[in-house]
Amino acid sequence: MEFRGSHILSVDQFGRDDVERVFEVARKMLPFSQRESVTRVLEGAVLGNIFFEPSTRTRISFGSAFNLLGGNVRDTTSEESLSLAKGENLHDTASVLSGYCDVLVMRHPKAGAVAEFSAQSRVPVINGGDGANEHPSQALLDLFTLDQEMRAKAKSVDGMSITIVGDLRFGRAVRSLCGLLSVFDSLDVRLVSPSQLTLRENLKEKLRKQGHEVSEFDSLEPALAASDVVYMTRIQTERFASADEADLYRGRLRLDRETYEAWCDPDTVIMHPLPRDSRRKARELDEDLNPNPNLAIFRQTDNGLAVRMALFALVLDVANKFEEKSRAVPWHTGARA
Ligand code: NCD
Repeated sequence: MEFRGSHILSVDQFGRDDVERVFEVARKMLPFSQRESVTRVLEGAVLGNIFFEPSTRTRISFGSAFNLLGGNVRDTTSEESLSLAKGENLHDTASVLSGYCDVLVMRHPKAGAVAEFSAQSRVPVINGGDGANEHPSQALLDLFTLDQEMRAKAKSVDGMSITIVGDLRFGRAVRSLCGLLSVFDSLDVRLVSPSQLTLRENLKEKLRKQGHEVSEFDSLEPALAASDVVYMTRIQTERFASADEADLYRGRLRLDRETYEAWCDPDTVIMHPLPRDSRRKARELDEDLNPNPNLAIFRQTDNGLAVRMALFALVLDVANKFEEKSRAVPWHTGARA
């Protein structure tokens, strides 16, 4: 794909070469995201970071990624604070905001709303999550992390077995992850969910068409044997008709230390897009796994910075321009790696 000036709306835009290109640029971003070097390559550029749903990682890491490239960030975190609350539509909002910014990131509760917004934007728009539809930057950072984790164990993403667990119906992170997994080779994909929350048929079809094994389970244990990765997710309460309905599924599929030790290989990587629901009724990924060195969840969040820096560098066409503009970090930094 041509990254320069493009909107990033869906993982369907990415072929294998495009994923490798993002990884290549993200690896070059690691010295900046890990605070070894400073670059000002986007000095003077403005990011509009427009989030109409709760977000900790996605909003702050997109903002920090832009700051780390030397750009300025303008955050908006509620629809009520914009003229959308006065009846303005997304079309007009996009026409206006794209005059103020060089790139926009948007999260919206409605599937398709970010694409609708981008159609009227004069600058690239990156989808930070649209309803239960897609979350492409999360899938890219998950695959970037998986690539690192597999290499560290002398394995590769191609040929791995991955067990994906939880709310596969409404989880946009999982939907984008499954879409992006399709571009890799020879995967064994095990999908674990309550029967009411299974992954949509078209995504399973896409994986099978690419030659991947896809199997489905409604309990966790039988899916875990010889799995290279287990990817947990939370029940997406906000997508259900009521919290009571979501409660029917909460806490049904749990990975804790006892289950891991009984059923997983000792080097199985544990992932989660976060937030994990740590309330007593949920605990899909138990805190008793925190000391396990295979728990990659905070390596995922750290990698989110480098991958989001890479997306900005690619769509704003500075991926080959930042090295000459970098210098060593002069301030005290904490341990990163
Ligand atoms: C995910 C999301 O918002 O879709 N969170 C994230 O961006 N890391 C997953 C979730 O909320 O469960």
